[in-house]
Amino acid sequence: MDKVLITGPLIGDSVSRLVDHFRVEYSRNEVMNQAAFSQAATDAWGIVTMTSLSVDRHIIDSSPGLKVISNLGVGCDNIDVSYAQSKGIVVTNTPDVLSESTAEMGMGLLLATARRIIEGDRMVKVGDFSGWKVDLLLGSELNGKTLGILGCGRIGQSIARMAGGFEMQVLYCNRSRLPAKVEARLHLSVVDFDGLLEKSDFLVITAPLNKESHHLFDLKTFERMKASAILINIGRGPVIKEVDLIAALETNLIAGVALDVLETPPSVAEQLKERTNVTLTPHLGSATTEARSAMSDLVIDAVLDVHQGRVPNYVVG
Ligand code: DGY
Repeated sequence: MDKVLITGPLIGDSVSRLVDHFRVEYSRNEVMNQAAFSQAATDAWGIVTMTSLSVDRHIIDSSPGLKVISNLGVGCDNIDVSYAQSKGIVVTNTPDVLSESTAEMGMGLLLATARRIIEGDRMVKVGDFSGWKVDLLLGSELNGKTLGILGCGRIGQSIARMAGGFEMQVLYCNRSRLPAKVEARLHLSVVDFDGLLEKSDFLVITAPLNKESHHLFDLKTFERMKASAILINIGRGPVIKEVDLIAALETNLIAGVALDVLETPPSVAEQLKERTNVTLTPHLGSATTEARSAMSDLVIDAVLDVHQGRVPNYVVG
């Protein structure tokens, strides 16, 4: 039987659907490290990949029988997709099912940072709360403010819909303009990157990582943002050049930041940990039982689809 390698734990029982068709190697307790993954991939027919593992040319070249790479997540920057395709390997991902969860995380980070919820939590827990005060941890109201969305795909559009509930003005900047019907439904206004930087009170990054977005947020970018702006990144860490972000925070170029994704995870700069206007979470965007269960089903569906000669629902590229 052909081998399917599952590189980390999935939610639910979806793996059982493979056992009649494949020899399954399942890392059910933790995500494999890169070295173990490289070795285990060499005789695989299919691989279910986690976002933290890189599927580069070397892995593809040393896995001659590989037919499908089924990625748990929507972002496929961890995979050399065009090279895989050139070798006839199908690459799939799991969009749609995670949009609401990831958008909710974005809104949660926005609220937590704007309303200083994490600082308040710490203050109470360490015993620094000495009673109500009129100016205690003053934050920034969302209502009526301008929210900018960089990358307005499914997740960005869900954020726009949610922001409507706070009566925010919503701007977006995207590689291609959305259909007029979508703009009208979500009360979205299109702007260029300069407009997004200059006008946003809150700016959420949902853009994928690619050559154009890598280090898009550097010192020059921060200089063009409002000093009162709060930046939220739920896309990919390397879209922000972290040393420049630290410099921008130190010189008050922006007011705060929330990062669900880091430039070189899991390591994080001390200067970010120390700052009260920085909120950090460990890549929890799609981390709900609902989304992760659905993603776990989709990665298995894709493997079975390719095996049984069907085109999977979500082929990348
Ligand atoms: C995604 O889908 O890309 C999420 O960030 C999980 O990796």
